[in-house]
Amino acid sequence: MTPMNDDLDPPGATPLEPDEIEGLKIHPITTREELNRFEQDNINDALQWLANCRRNDEILTEKFIKTLHKKMFGKVWRWAGNYRRSGKNIGVNWTQFPFHLHNLLNDVRYWIEGKTYPPDEIAVRFHHRLVAIHLFVNGNGRHARLMTDLLLERILKQKPFTWNINNLNTEKDVRNFYITALQKADKEDYSMLLEFIRPTPP
Ligand SMILES: Nc1ncnc2c1ncn2[C@@H]1O[C@H](COP(=O)(O)OP(=O)(O)OP(=O)(O)O)[C@@H](O)[C@H]1O
Ligand SMILES: [Mg+2]
Repeated sequence: MTPMNDDLDPPGATPLEPDEIEGLKIHPITTREELNRFEQDNINDALQWLANCRRNDEILTEKFIKTLHKKMFGKVWRWAGNYRRSGKNIGVNWTQFPFHLHNLLNDVRYWIEGKTYPPDEIAVRFHHRLVAIHLFVNGNGRHARLMTDLLLERILKQKPFTWNINNLNTEKDVRNFYITALQKADKEDYSMLLEFIRPTPP
């Protein structure tokens, strides 16, 4: 059996603190694999909810951002849909979430309206900023990837990204590419992230 909170966390994943593990709604979950399965089942429920949810004009709001996280993780984690209230090695200071989120949402609306960047670049910039703020204790990557696809499909009317989804959590190289691409985006170079989400055919 694989103990929780060990070095099986993929690179760039937020490790869980012991007090956060207390937030689990389902007991006992003893292995990372079990947790992943419960979370994936919960995410599938969220996808079903989304299929019937037509509130597209609410996607770029704080309320929707929280609701989506709750729909994705609310059966597994007590704190789903609520912002973290502790420091993480990634992310802004949690006391400044309203400021950063408000700025991000305003920027994205402005980019869309003014066509400041091509649609894929708007989506990539949004994704990078949202995970960099790191609103939640866990699930930030999956939540921000789904938020980005909703932005693409329902607001920008583009195809969702692939995110290399089958390999992102299993293949180290793919995961490392994604994290390195996010780190490049920290320096305002979005080329690697754009390549990651729509790979050019060989
Ligand atoms: N250096 C970094 N800069 C910006 N974002 C990062 C960095 N490292 C990791 N991230 C983001 O944080 C996410 C991990 O955060 P968290 O563990 O809360 O999300 P998750 O959904 O549980 O993880 P996963 O992405 O493995 O499904 C990564 O997927 C990535 O999007
Ligand atoms: Mg995680």
